[in-house]
Amino acid sequence: MSSVAEFQVFDQDEHLRLNIPEEPFNTQILLPWARRLPTPGRILDLTAGQGIEAHTLRGLGYPTVAADLSFFMLQNAYADRRVLHEVTSLPFAPYSFEGALTKDALVFISPTDRVAMFRGLKRLIRPHGSLLVNSQISTHMKIYYRPKDSNLATSEIVANTQQLFPASKTGHGPWIDQIAQITNAGGHIFMVEYPATPELILGQAQEFGFTPVDMQLYNPHTIDTQSNRWSPLGRFILELKKQ
Ligand SMILES: C[S@@+](CC[C@H](N)C(=O)[O-])C[C@H]1O[C@@H](n2cnc3c(N)ncnc32)[C@H](O)[C@@H]1O
Repeated sequence: MSSVAEFQVFDQDEHLRLNIPEEPFNTQILLPWARRLPTPGRILDLTAGQGIEAHTLRGLGYPTVAADLSFFMLQNAYADRRVLHEVTSLPFAPYSFEGALTKDALVFISPTDRVAMFRGLKRLIRPHGSLLVNSQISTHMKIYYRPKDSNLATSEIVANTQQLFPASKTGHGPWIDQIAQITNAGGHIFMVEYPATPELILGQAQEFGFTPVDMQLYNPHTIDTQSNRWSPLGRFILELKKQ
């Protein structure tokens, strides 16, 4: 279990209104990727949220499992196959999947947990299978917290108390000390975001036997990025093949 997974805030009603497929992503990235899988086998959506992509894939005949650590997200998900689990310890037999994807979630997974995630994927994905990564580009650590006795609304707190830390080479930084300081002072941390750059993710993936096949970078002005339901910021999409 991640040391900071409890800080995630996806159990908020406001996120559920974002429940619409992203057509540019589906038609230009997701479906062509699924078609390129070595055989039309099973797909794992690692951080599925409400399972929108999993639902789309299943509708097209790809048996897809939606996994997520948030009960609330899965509870409000499409009634497809859902597994309440985090990315660090996925409960599947070796070589259960031809493909796996993670969309708009890597910033919430700590560098340490990402190592566990890639180790698990190395075990779960069949040789020559594929991993599709879609992530916001984030070069800084961000800690969102509510100071002790604050009456500010959540949205104001995000704007007012965001703390930024430059990414170190490994993605670790002085954030653990910062978290200790905030909690020792009686503050409440409700979300942590970690750096996620193509270089960081690619470096970790390669250590676990994944080779880059294709990488696309999107700036905030492209239609693909603007149609992203989570954060219309720059992002990268990386297709990795398992050796
Ligand atoms: C921004 S949402 C994206 C959900 C979905 N992929 C989409 O595009 O709509 C991020 C999701 O990642 C999940 N998540 C964050 N950390 C996770 C972890 N360690 N293990 C599994 N899921 C995680 C959250 O619960 C949330 O549903």
